[in-house]
Amino acid sequence: MKYLLEIWRQKDKDTEGSYRTYLYETESVSVTAAAALSELNERKVLTDTEGNASEKIRWECSCLQKKCGACAMLIDGKPRLACDARLSESKKERIRLEPLRKFPIIADLTVNREVIFDELKQMQLWSASDIYTDDRNNSIMYEASRCLECGCCLEVCPNFVPGGDFYGMSAMVPASRLIAVMKGKSGKQLRREYGRVITDGCGKSLACRNICPAGIDIEGLMARSNAAVLWGWIFGARDK
Ligand code: SF4
Ligand code: SF4
Ligand code: FES
Repeated sequence: MKYLLEIWRQKDKDTEGSYRTYLYETESVSVTAAAALSELNERKVLTDTEGNASEKIRWECSCLQKKCGACAMLIDGKPRLACDARLSESKKERIRLEPLRKFPIIADLTVNREVIFDELKQMQLWSASDIYTDDRNNSIMYEASRCLECGCCLEVCPNFVPGGDFYGMSAMVPASRLIAVMKGKSGKQLRREYGRVITDGCGKSLACRNICPAGIDIEGLMARSNAAVLWGWIFGARDK
C-alpha cells in the first residue's frame, strides 16, 4: 500500500507553517499513523515528494497503546489518537496529519495543552472531604477515571476557547468522578464551581458525543453530574 502523508510542518510558534507530503509504503493493513510517523523519522534523510530534505517530524507519544492521550492530532480533519488510527481506515491514498487547532502550537504536530491541567487545578479536583461510595458510584468513578486529558473533545466543541470561562468535557469528566461522591463543604463548593465552568457554558450540542478515543460515556456522565449540581445530590444520598 502506498500513502501520501500530508503533514503540517511548522518550526515553532513564531514561524509560518505549511503542509509537506511524504511517501510512505507498507505491506501491513494495521499500520497506524503513529507507526508511520516513527518510521518516517527513522529514515536517514527524510525527503518530501518534491525532493526537499526535512527535519524530523515533531509529534508526541508515550504509551502507543491508547492510554496516555499524548499523540492526539487531527487525522483527515478528525481528532484522533495517532496510535489508534490505522492508515488503511482512510480508504484513500492521501491522508492529512495536522496538530489540534484549539491549542497553541509548539512545532509540527505538537501543541501546548497545559490549559487542560490548569483548569483541573483551578477546579481543585481532589478529594478533601468525606466520600460517599456504593457500587453505583464506583462504576461512575471508574468510567470518569478513564479520561486521558487528550483534548479531542475540546477540539470539536463549539463553546470551548482555551482560557475562556467554559472548561469543556476534559474538566467535566474528571469532575463527575468527584461530584458523584464528594460530601460536605468541599462537595458543595465543587458543585458550585462545576455549575459555573461547565453547566453554564455548555450548549448541549453534543458535538463531543462520539469523539472520545477512550469511549467514555460523556453524555451519561454529564446528565448525572448536571442533575447532581442542579438538585444538590450526591448519588445515593442527599447532601445536607
Ligand atoms: S455538548 Fe456541545 S458545548 Fe457541550 S461540551 Fe459537548 S460539544 Fe461542547
Ligand atoms: S473526555 Fe475523552 S476526548 Fe475528552 S479529554 Fe477525556 S479522553 Fe479525551
Ligand atoms: S501514544 Fe499514548 S495514547 Fe497514543
